This record gives sequence, C-alpha cells and structure tokens, in this order.
Amino acid sequence: MAVTPLLEQLSTIVGEAFAQLGYPAERGKVVISTRWDLAQFQCNGAMAVAKEAKKNPLEIAEAVAKILFPDTRFARVAAVAPGFLNIDISDKFFSAHVQAMAQDEHFGGFRTDEPLNIILDYCGPNVAKPMHVGHLRSSVIGNSLYRIFKRAGHRVTSDIHLGDWGLPMGMLIAEIKRTGRTEPVTLEELEVMYPKAAAECKEDPAKLEEARAAVQALQDGNEEYRALWRHFVDVSVKKVIANLERLDIDFDLWLGESDVQNVIPPMVEELKGNGKAIASEGAWIVEVAEPTDKNEIPPMLLVKSDGAALYSTTDLATIKQRVEEYNPDLILYVVDQRQHLHFEQVFRAARKVGYAGKAKLEHKGYGTVNGKDGKPFKTRTGGVMKLEDLIQLCVDAAGQKEAAGEVNEAEAIGIAALKFADLSSTSISGYVFDVDKFVSTEGKTGPYLQYACVRVHSLMEKSDIPLGRISLTLSAERALAHMAIRFPNAMREAIDAREPSILCEFAYELAQAFSKFYAACPIAKAEDATTAASRLGLAKLVHGQISACLDMLGIRVPERM
Ligand code: ARG
Repeated sequence: MAVTPLLEQLSTIVGEAFAQLGYPAERGKVVISTRWDLAQFQCNGAMAVAKEAKKNPLEIAEAVAKILFPDTRFARVAAVAPGFLNIDISDKFFSAHVQAMAQDEHFGGFRTDEPLNIILDYCGPNVAKPMHVGHLRSSVIGNSLYRIFKRAGHRVTSDIHLGDWGLPMGMLIAEIKRTGRTEPVTLEELEVMYPKAAAECKEDPAKLEEARAAVQALQDGNEEYRALWRHFVDVSVKKVIANLERLDIDFDLWLGESDVQNVIPPMVEELKGNGKAIASEGAWIVEVAEPTDKNEIPPMLLVKSDGAALYSTTDLATIKQRVEEYNPDLILYVVDQRQHLHFEQVFRAARKVGYAGKAKLEHKGYGTVNGKDGKPFKTRTGGVMKLEDLIQLCVDAAGQKEAAGEVNEAEAIGIAALKFADLSSTSISGYVFDVDKFVSTEGKTGPYLQYACVRVHSLMEKSDIPLGRISLTLSAERALAHMAIRFPNAMREAIDAREPSILCEFAYELAQAFSKFYAACPIAKAEDATTAASRLGLAKLVHGQISACLDMLGIRVPERM
C-alpha cells in the first residue's frame, strides 16, 4: 500500500470543512506554504469561494478554521486577511506521517491508481551513422521518463525506433555495388562511406537513381541486398549497444523503421481507397490543417510523386502497428524539438484516418546541447561531436579528479555528471556544455548528489543505533520533514510535465536540507538514544528518496566516493 501524500490527506480534511459549510470540497486544497516561517501549509480556497458566493473571504476562512480547530491533527489553523488559512500540523501527526514514509517501500513516492499502458519512443539512432550529441538528450531524457513512469506504477514499453531504412540504405548498397567490394565493411568504413555517397547522390542524378533502385530492390526482397543491409544493421547496432550500456540504458523493443515497411503498401492503398489521402501534384497527402490553427500546418506527405514513402509515412505506419499490437493509452516520442512540426502532422493524420485508437500521441521536444559560443556543440575542428567522445570527455574530467584524490569511480561519476547536466535544465531549453561545471562535487550537479547519497548512507552504516520511531521536535527536523513530504508531488509534477528536471531540483533541495539538518542535529552524538534513533529514521528516509530520485534519473550511486 502506498502512503497517501500528506498534502492530499490535508486537502481532504480541509475540503470536508468547506463541504460542511456548503462550499465545494475542492476549495479545501492545501499547498506547501511559500513562507515556512509563517506557516507550514496554506489553503487559499476561501478567496475563490468568497468570489463565487459574494461573501467576505476572511469570514469564510474563519468559519473553516473554527471547524478545524478541535482536530488534534492540527497545531494551528489561522485565518488571516484577506482570507488565507495558515496551517501548522501537530508534531505527532507530522511524525507519524514521516514515519510511514520511511517504512514505505517507495519512501512515500507517488504511485498512480490508474496505470497507463505507455509506449516510449526515444533514442532513434541511425544505421551507418555515428550516434552524436543530438542523440544524447533523447536517450537520457527518454530513459529517465521511462524510469519515472515505471516507478509510479505505469506499464511502459520502450522502443528504440532505429533509423534502419530508406534512401541512406540504398545509397550504401549502390556505393558498395559500384566499388565491387565483396568483403564485409566495418562500421568505421560505413561512417565514411555514407556521407560520401550522400554527397555524390546530391550532385549526380544517376547515382541518386541507383540508390532509389537499390531501396526498391531491397524492399522487393533482393537477397544479396538484404544480406548487405542486415550487415549494416548488425555492425551499427553493436556500437549503439556499447554506447547505451555505458549510459545504463536498454530497450524493451529494438524495432526500427524497417519493421513497418510491409505495413506501408497496404496502408497507402487503404488511405487512397477510402479518400483519407488525396492526390496532389502527383503525390498523395493527408490534409491535417484545422480551422483553429494559428499557424498554417501543411498536409502530411504520404507518398512522394516518385512513389516513395517518407519519414512521415513510416511514423504513421508505426502508430498503426503499435496501436494494433499494444493498444496503448499513450505513445510518447522524445525527439529534438526541431521535429515538432513533423510529429504534429503525423499525429493529426493518425487521428484523422483512425489509426490512433485510444492512444494520446505526444511529442516531448528538447533543445540542443550548445558550446560556450551558444551554437550547437561541435568538436574542436568544427565537426559533429560523437556521443562516445562526449561521454569520454566527462569520464576523463572525472578521472582527473580521481587522480587528484578527490573522488573514486571516475566512470560512474563522469556519466552521472553528463546525465544530470542534461536532465537538470528544462528539456525545451538547450544548455551549454561545460564539463568542469558538470563534474564538480559542489553545486547542482550529479556528482554532488551521488556524494550526498553516499554520505547519508555511510552515516547510517556507521551508527550502531537501531532505527527508532521518528519524532519531530526541533525546527531543523521539521524543516527536513517538510522537504521530504514533497517527494510524491515532485514525482507527480515530473510525470505531468514530462520533466525530469523537476526531480533534479527536488533531489538537490532535499540533499541541501539534509546538510542543514545534520549540522544542527547530530545523530551519533544526539542527546539521548531515542533522539538518535528518530534522526536515523529521518536519514533513512532521505537516503531512500535521494536514491529513488537518482534511480529515476538513471544515475548509479557508487559504493564510496
Ligand atoms: N532517427 C531519427 C533521427 O535521428 C529519430 C527518430 C525519432 N522517432 C520517430 N519515431 N520518428 O532524427
């Protein structure tokens, strides 16, 4: 059984008081007070009620306070002008709640009572092209959302959606045929061959035609071409796995664009036949503009005038297939914000032609990783930064700290630095890649949180005091508890906004609150054994919550640092 979040419990109690007075119970919503020095909690519902009932807000607040006053769970309920309710709860009630959180397997974290069936499409690396800085954010944000949804009790299926089909494959096959090469190509060769072939196809229509013909033959099942393609996919996926393993990321489904290629021809026929697709200048399109659009949304291109399917066709077919196979409640795509229009078109088309089922289709975009010049991050020579090089930069920086005796486990720390930096700014804004800042053990960084977690853990291990009942008596203890009760809210907000950054912020604030608490409230040297045991219980709760947050951010905590 999950622990009902304290704010929810308080809202119910205060809501009942509003209801007793004949006002809507929702008006009893209790929030954390922004002025901790004035009150622990606050309810502003009387203001709204007064407006609706044309009454004096202060009188309503006073009436509510009067009802709540005898309830021993409250230490103080004060109506203050113009109509706020300031609420403090009793130490007994507060302590019992915090105790329940510390004993809960989820440490009071949010658990949904409506588990959704979610498909999460993220990472999306492309065959024969190196994973680059652009894939970092999709991988890290997508994987964090996966972990958050799961911890909240949703059913999530992740799909890597490999870019493993289309003209690039034709270009490579045609290039290999031209060179007459027979021995298998390596990934390094493919990574050189692809940009060369792409550039040549741009220059030379004959070569482009060869590439197109090669895709067609591949589509029609040419065995030699299939074998070449399989090989491209195999060598590329090996490298993708190696990169992702370092980032602690795995997928439930390793499907790709190629997996819906057989869905496309009948789908196109169906849409042509039922009039959902219309012919336009030799191509076939699905109109997706809506009368309420502020900006013009161009139609989704289904088939080009040369008969070729496109990126959007593949994504539409993928939705059809996912809905038929999984009947999801939500399909969430974590992809660069620059593809937003593409997804808007595909989603609208899917709903219009009836392929979306009950699924909500959603694109979670993100901004770019930038250099200190504010432009997308590049290598020193101006090339695209490969993901593996980016990872190595962070691990090397952590390695330097290790060499200086500041930390241990450079790999875990470097990766944490990179992931936390990526997750902690709101996704839609880009951020500046600043490795020295990322690996610092001070400030809002991954290593700081790892360090905080290790430190709390070692405090717990060192003490031979048995865990006791939590009893909040000092303001430093209450302040820490006041932070810990926000955990379910932080999780919930992160889920609703699809924003891991909210958890980064919460974990950071909790770690800071713990430092303050510990400075004022020693554990081993506490005045008596009961106090020590109670504080140890608080430490256990904080450790559990920080560990849970780091786990949801996909960050591993080393044994020691
Ligand atoms: N392979 C694509 C790219 O590198 C990303 C794929 C995103 N997912 C999707 N279903 N379109 O841009």
